[in-house]
Amino acid sequence: DCNCCGVKVSAVIPEFSNPSVCMKDPQRVQDIMESMAKAGSNTVQVISDFDMTLTRFAYNGKRCPTCHNILDNSDLVSEECKEQLKELLDTYYPIEIDCSRPVDEKLPLMVEWWTKAHALLVQQRIKKDHLALVVRESDAMLRDGYQLFFDHLHEHSIPLLIFSAGIGDILEEVIRQAKVFHPNINVFSNYMDFDDCGVLRAFKGELIHIYNKREGALLNSGHFEELRARPNVLLMGDSLGDLNMADGVQDMENILKIGFLNDKVEERKQSYLDSYDIVLVKDETLVVPNGVLLYLT
Ligand code: C5P
Ligand code: MG
Repeated sequence: DCNCCGVKVSAVIPEFSNPSVCMKDPQRVQDIMESMAKAGSNTVQVISDFDMTLTRFAYNGKRCPTCHNILDNSDLVSEECKEQLKELLDTYYPIEIDCSRPVDEKLPLMVEWWTKAHALLVQQRIKKDHLALVVRESDAMLRDGYQLFFDHLHEHSIPLLIFSAGIGDILEEVIRQAKVFHPNINVFSNYMDFDDCGVLRAFKGELIHIYNKREGALLNSGHFEELRARPNVLLMGDSLGDLNMADGVQDMENILKIGFLNDKVEERKQSYLDSYDIVLVKDETLVVPNGVLLYLT
């Protein structure tokens, strides 16, 4: 039975009986999975968020950093700047996870957060050469099971699109250092723009924040065009803003949405259950997504 609602969860895969798994409509999940498995793994693509979806939210009771936090906490920013970034985090993160405020009210505040943080980072004259070291020294961790996740997708030639409002240069480095940055991966994210001396001078292109992933997906429709023959999508996220990451996929046949509910669990559970097919409550692993992938391939 589903742990939160008592609905019977069919034994499609054994991982569904893990205590972290919640589903509003287990039958629907089963139907989608059967339909995707029947279509075959060569029709599947995976679209995933990065921070707090592919990376851990916490380890040993301590919060793990996002891409931004890796820089915020590093020696690449001055003490004064650290304080200012911390103040931004303390102001805006509670707004990000506040489900009592509507998205249209939160959106301009999120733009404000990203814009202010990026402006501060740009003032710090961060050097490209130093990024690998700060990532190595950070507490960022991919979720347990990441090796199987990345290697399995690669072995089965399933494209993985990582769609992140974090920082592309940083997330690539996290994945590279974990030795799983395989050629089936594409990244849409905020990339740093360095001058001729390798010093950060701006962020490239349109800002991606947590509530404009739909626009980002539509702007990058060329990418999805190449993937037209893959109308079955496995989507993974940790924010309700991540639900729009597949909006650029045309002729979609099936989409299975897996959502990590890391924080403010009680307040947000119902809205996650209403929008994600599978909700993983305080689950720091990729065990369930891996189970789904093994079933599909
Ligand atoms: O990869 P993803 O799209 O999840 O990255 C966005 C995350 O980055 C947000 O959930 C937000 O909490 C975090 N963030 C941050 N510092 C900022 C802006 C965003 O930690 N300045
Ligand atoms: Mg995230």
